[in-house]
Amino acid sequence: MSRKVNAGKQRRGPTGGFSGGKGGGRFGGGGPKGPWADHHTHKAKQLGFAARSVFKLEEIDKKHKVLAKGHVVLDLGCAPGSWTQYAAKRVGPEGRVVGIDLKETKIDAPNATLLTGDATESLEQLRDLAPGGYDIVLSDMAPSTTGIKDVDEARSQGLVESALATAEALLKPGGAFVAKLFYGPDAKALIERIGRHFASTQTIRPDATRKQSREVFILAQGFRPAANDAPADEV
Ligand SMILES: C[S@@+](CC[C@H](N)C(=O)[O-])C[C@H]1O[C@@H](n2cnc3c(N)ncnc32)[C@H](O)[C@@H]1O
Repeated sequence: MSRKVNAGKQRRGPTGGFSGGKGGGRFGGGGPKGPWADHHTHKAKQLGFAARSVFKLEEIDKKHKVLAKGHVVLDLGCAPGSWTQYAAKRVGPEGRVVGIDLKETKIDAPNATLLTGDATESLEQLRDLAPGGYDIVLSDMAPSTTGIKDVDEARSQGLVESALATAEALLKPGGAFVAKLFYGPDAKALIERIGRHFASTQTIRPDATRKQSREVFILAQGFRPAANDAPADEV
């Protein structure tokens, strides 16, 4: 059952297995609709996922073998919950997912702990939930958009920088980092910076990304902690 944590409050949800959860996530009770609904949206609903974003993570995972049974995964910006649902299933009962979002995540996944809060200010709480460190840090965080391209790109870059700092603090050696970025003029420098801490880095634009979107996903694998970094459980 999911463990939900909010400002010190914890509650256990019903055993829900791998479902879209009681709120139906973004789809509410009435199913996907509106001008943004496409075949990915309908397929996600049919399969019980909280959002169509699941197909982006699925594609990255299938092509690049990111997730495995037993992994401990951190999902930053997890609401409405489709990445957490997918990761929870992939890591299996011997693995675990910790998800955090500014909004409440209303899914039931037996091996997920869901927090409501600001991922950029929750490092200690996230560390306490996995004292041995995380195998993967995912970030699908997106800023509230203004429609002003430069502002939205800068905000997205700020979220990726924060997610990277979290990954550097909490990843196990050899771990992986996946982050969404609205590609802007400073993206190349940021991707190069990420590359200094990982054996390989690549930029991916999954098929499920909407045509008009500027988003890309950075996949960095083989985390190499700086020589003077202590392991996650000793910092
Ligand atoms: C595209 S949605 C994530 C979708 C999610 N991966 C899924 O599959 O259901 C982006 C999320 O980032 C969250 N977010 C943005 N800034 C955040 C922050 N500072 N801390 C936590 N969550 C944040 C938003 O609240 C939003 O729910």
